[in-house]
Amino acid sequence: ESKQEAIIYVNGVRRILPNGLAHFTLLEYLRDIGLTGTKLGCGEGGCGACTVMVSYFDQLSNKTIHSAVNACLTPLYSVEGMHVITVEGIGNRRQGLHPVQETMALSHGSQCGFCTLGFIMSMYALLRSNRGFPSEEQIEESLGGNLCRCTGYRPIIDAFRVFAKTDNVLYIDNGKPCSSESSSGSEFICPSTGKPCSCGTKVINDDNCMPDSENCNSIYKPVSYNEIDGSSYREKEHIFPPELLLR
Ligand code: FES
Ligand code: FES
Repeated sequence: ESKQEAIIYVNGVRRILPNGLAHFTLLEYLRDIGLTGTKLGCGEGGCGACTVMVSYFDQLSNKTIHSAVNACLTPLYSVEGMHVITVEGIGNRRQGLHPVQETMALSHGSQCGFCTLGFIMSMYALLRSNRGFPSEEQIEESLGGNLCRCTGYRPIIDAFRVFAKTDNVLYIDNGKPCSSESSSGSEFICPSTGKPCSCGTKVINDDNCMPDSENCNSIYKPVSYNEIDGSSYREKEHIFPPELLLR
């Protein structure tokens, strides 16, 4: 009698799940096979230090679904037939950091680093499931399950804001905000730093509102994931394993 093997893919590598591990969580398995970038914090779904991305093909919607999950709560066999991506699978210093990792480092969003992979993986999963532009609210919401005891969160949110929709970029005309929302007399809020700033005094064209990003005193320029998609890093990203489409 032929038995179907229980397989998963981890960071693009096919693995056969051994029998007898019904008591294992996905986190225990990952750390057992040497992927210790995923951390054990609380062990009960509260801190997000164990976040990984799990992808499966949904036959009904004919789509690959990517979700950030807490590996400490995920029974190992429940991800049979799925693709698990850990922080090791998205980038490293030797082969190049993923933009999510790079922006986190640049904005000093990591201090002790214990939570960092969790934030990275939550953000990564959001970007993989939302190829366009997530909104700032979606970004903040996607980080709701990740705790950080060091940074106060602001540098992390600032880091990831580069991936947000840019429809709240300031528009100026004659040095004044000219979009209907921002002409209400309220302060300029820099879309990149989230703080009031004095940018927008250089008039580019009196007749047209111009995006303010040129003049804005910002640290990070908004970037869309679609722009990043075209670059060479995209070729390094793990695709959904074709074998798993058939299961
Ligand atoms: Fe804290 Fe998994 S270890 S949520
Ligand atoms: Fe230390 Fe977040 S950097 S817990």
